[in-house]
Amino acid sequence: MEIVHEVPDLKARLRKMRRVALVPTMGALHRGHLSLVDIARNHAEDVVATVFVNPKQFGPEEDLEAYPRTLDEDAEALMEAGCSLLFAPSSVAMYPPDFDVQVRLPNISSGLCGNHRPGHFDGVATVVLKLLTMIRPEVAVFGEKDFQQLCLIRRLVSNLEIETRILGGPLIRDEDGLALSSRNAYLGTEGRARALSLSQGLRAADQLYAAGERSAKVLVGAAAEPMARAQVEPEYLELRRYRDLEPLERADEPCVLLVAARIGSTRLIDNHILRRP
Ligand code: PAJ
Repeated sequence: MEIVHEVPDLKARLRKMRRVALVPTMGALHRGHLSLVDIARNHAEDVVATVFVNPKQFGPEEDLEAYPRTLDEDAEALMEAGCSLLFAPSSVAMYPPDFDVQVRLPNISSGLCGNHRPGHFDGVATVVLKLLTMIRPEVAVFGEKDFQQLCLIRRLVSNLEIETRILGGPLIRDEDGLALSSRNAYLGTEGRARALSLSQGLRAADQLYAAGERSAKVLVGAAAEPMARAQVEPEYLELRRYRDLEPLERADEPCVLLVAARIGSTRLIDNHILRRP
C-alpha cells in the first residue's frame, strides 16, 4: 500500500487503477472503519482510503484540535485490511488558499445533528463532493453509524447525477453494545457506563417493535428509560423515515430510531434501523 499526501500524486496513482472503491475517514481507525474496507474490497479491484480530519465540518467550539490523529497505526491497519492506496492530505492540499466552494443540502442537513452542529453537514458535503470528483470511484462506502450523513451523501450523489454507487455498511458495536467511535477514547470508565444507556435504549425499543408496537411515542419512551436512569439527557431521540429522515408518528414503514447525547464533553450518536426497505 502506498501513502500519498498531495493531489497530483493521488491522481498519478489513480491513473493506474481501473475499478476503485473509496472509503473516506478522519482516521483514528477502529473495526467500524475497517468493516467498510472489507465491503469496499468486495466491490472493486482497488480500495482507496482517505484519512483527513476535515476542518470544515468542525464548529468553532468543537474538538478539531483534540481529535485523535494516529496516521501510522491507521496506515498499518489499512494495509492489513487490503487497501491499495491511502490518501492523507494536509489541510492546504485539500483547501488551497483560493478554495471558495461550499456545498449545502439545506433540507437533509436540518434537524437531528444539524440542529446541534451548525455548518457541520455543509463541511461534510463539501469534502465528500471534492473526494468523489477527484477520485471518481465506482463505489464509495459509508457507515450507517452516521445515518444522517449517509442520507445526505446519497442525496448529493443522486441530485448531482454523480456516477458513484454509494454503499452503506452496518453499524459496528463493541461487545458491550457501545457503537464504535473514535470519540469513545474520550470517555472514562464512568462515562462509558453511562454511554451504554444509548444502545440499551435502542435495544429496548427494538424489543417492543419486535413485539408489534408501532407508536413512535411508545418506542421513543422505551428507548428513553435507560438513558434517564443513567442521567443521560439526549439532544434528540426520534423516529424518522429511513428514506428521507422525515419525522414519523408510527413505525409502519422502513424507519430508524436516532439518538445523540453528551456524556460530559463527549458527544455521541447512535441509531437502530427498526425496518429496512
Ligand atoms: P469518520 O467519523 O472517521 O468515519 C468514517 C466512516 O466510518 C464513516 O462512513 C462512518 O459512518 C464510518 N463509521 C464510523 N464508526 C462506525 C461504526 N461503528 N460502524 C460502522 N461504520 C462506522 O464520517 C466521517 O469520518 C467524516 O464525516 C467523513 C465522511 C470522512 C467526511 O469527512
